[in-house]
Amino acid sequence: MGCKTLCFGLTCILFAYYIYTPLPENIEEPWKIQVIDALIKTTSLTAILLENMGLIRYEELFSLLLKLDYTAPISDENITVMDTNFTDIPVRLYLPKRKSKSQRRAVIFIHGGAFILGSCKQMSWDFLNRWTANKLGAVVVAVDYRLAPQYQFPVSHEDVISVVKFFLQDKILAKYGVDPSRICISGDSSGGILAAEVTQLVQNDPGFKNKVKAQALIYPGLQLVDTLMPSHREHEHGPILSRDMAIKMGCLYLTKDKALLEALRENQHMPHGSRHLFTLVNWSTLLPEKYKRNHIYTEPIIGRFNFSYPGLLDSRLSPLLVNDSQLQNLPLTYILTCEHDILRDDGLIYVSRLQNVAVNVSHDHIEDGVHGAISFMTIPFYLRVGIRIRDKYISWLDKNL
Ligand SMILES: *[C@@H]1O[C@H](CO)[C@@H](O)[C@H](O)[C@H]1NC(C)=O
Ligand SMILES: *[C@@H]1O[C@H](CO)[C@@H](O)[C@H](O)[C@H]1NC(C)=O
Ligand SMILES: *[C@@H]1O[C@H](CO)[C@@H](O)[C@H](O)[C@H]1NC(C)=O
Ligand SMILES: *[C@@H]1O[C@H](CO)[C@@H](O)[C@H](O)[C@H]1NC(C)=O
Ligand SMILES: *[C@@H]1O[C@H](CO)[C@@H](O)[C@H](O)[C@H]1NC(C)=O
Ligand SMILES: *[C@@H]1O[C@H](CO)[C@@H](O)[C@H](O)[C@H]1NC(C)=O
Repeated sequence: MGCKTLCFGLTCILFAYYIYTPLPENIEEPWKIQVIDALIKTTSLTAILLENMGLIRYEELFSLLLKLDYTAPISDENITVMDTNFTDIPVRLYLPKRKSKSQRRAVIFIHGGAFILGSCKQMSWDFLNRWTANKLGAVVVAVDYRLAPQYQFPVSHEDVISVVKFFLQDKILAKYGVDPSRICISGDSSGGILAAEVTQLVQNDPGFKNKVKAQALIYPGLQLVDTLMPSHREHEHGPILSRDMAIKMGCLYLTKDKALLEALRENQHMPHGSRHLFTLVNWSTLLPEKYKRNHIYTEPIIGRFNFSYPGLLDSRLSPLLVNDSQLQNLPLTYILTCEHDILRDDGLIYVSRLQNVAVNVSHDHIEDGVHGAISFMTIPFYLRVGIRIRDKYISWLDKNL
């Protein structure tokens, strides 16, 4: 009892401390973001304390809390919703009920959560995918890929690829009445990494007869090569996603080894012989002037540690690492970036690289946007910037898919 009271007391103090963290000025509904930010930071610190006490692993506390937010597959008057498996990987399907004269569009949706958290069953993603099916009359396939640290790199990739491969078969598309020429792969945050790299694979691999028409990336992460981009520096402390949390969680996708974690924090994690890869993510050449601000580019420090994590060099973890000839075949692309987001520059750099090879890219930059906003657009926060992002994404899909 005494311990519980103590823990509760400590949590309250932490929360009270974080709630006074100043926010950028132009943010809409700042008090909501302040509460969300304080809740996340309190959870994170509590998780660190509990982990140090040997009670629970860091990510387990987040998982426990997020599970409270899972929804059942509930159909409504317009769409049939069901949980099923595609090649043993759980997916949630949204199938419009309205009769359609022509074949339907389809969206494959890959949720975020830093490869260690979350499920497409969470309320906000369920809401987003329902909305997509409803507004576009589209079939939506949401993928529940397996998570780290239990399933490390490249398991998430393999799960998503199996689902995509299964779904893109002629007979399966026909079963769901989907038009093979109107399919989009979408994802947010780390789901954006998966969406981007799987799209690269589908478009470049002759094994895929059916290609996709579009990809949509919402505040995507796109690389783990340089952890000191201007956006990492400007938004080191969030809001919502701090640099420390992003690195901690991203690292768990590769290993539980704390040595890599430390090296990632120092931005000295890339092994000997990887300097050429920095050219592909060089913010000094690829970021529009406006976003370089007053930051000074410093040459990467490489080979300080010789980690044997092949994932660090792999475009399945850092889709920005492919060369221009692999970008050329990419489909119509939508990228949404948020100003107040440590992952902002990943998205901006992908926009530049795709434009350089004449891929048709639409880019929306949300000046008052924060990372993860769509995850807070449902009860209890109803975050307006999340709803604005949803509407921009849907409107682009409606016009382009
Ligand atoms: C079903 O579709 C109709 C027409 O688009 C819409 O007015 C209604 O709100 C939808 N119902 C649900 C539960 O979304
Ligand atoms: C889907 O696959 C998972 C394991 O991959 C299994 O636990 C579950 O029972 C399967 N569900 C169905 C409906 O087949
Ligand atoms: C990054 O670009 C700058 C020029 O803006 C150049 O001086 C630097 O050598 C480049 N670094 C790498 C690793 O390509
Ligand atoms: C890493 O490996 C390279 C080449 O294999 C070697 O030159 C370098 O000294 C190694 N660095 C460390 C810190 O072990
Ligand atoms: C681009 O990368 C692919 C795959 O790694 C490789 O086969 C190809 O030769 C590279 N192209 C160029 C121009 O470097
Ligand atoms: C990009 O694609 C859209 C169709 O979705 C088209 O209207 C537009 O003209 C294209 N832009 C370029 C530059 O090709």
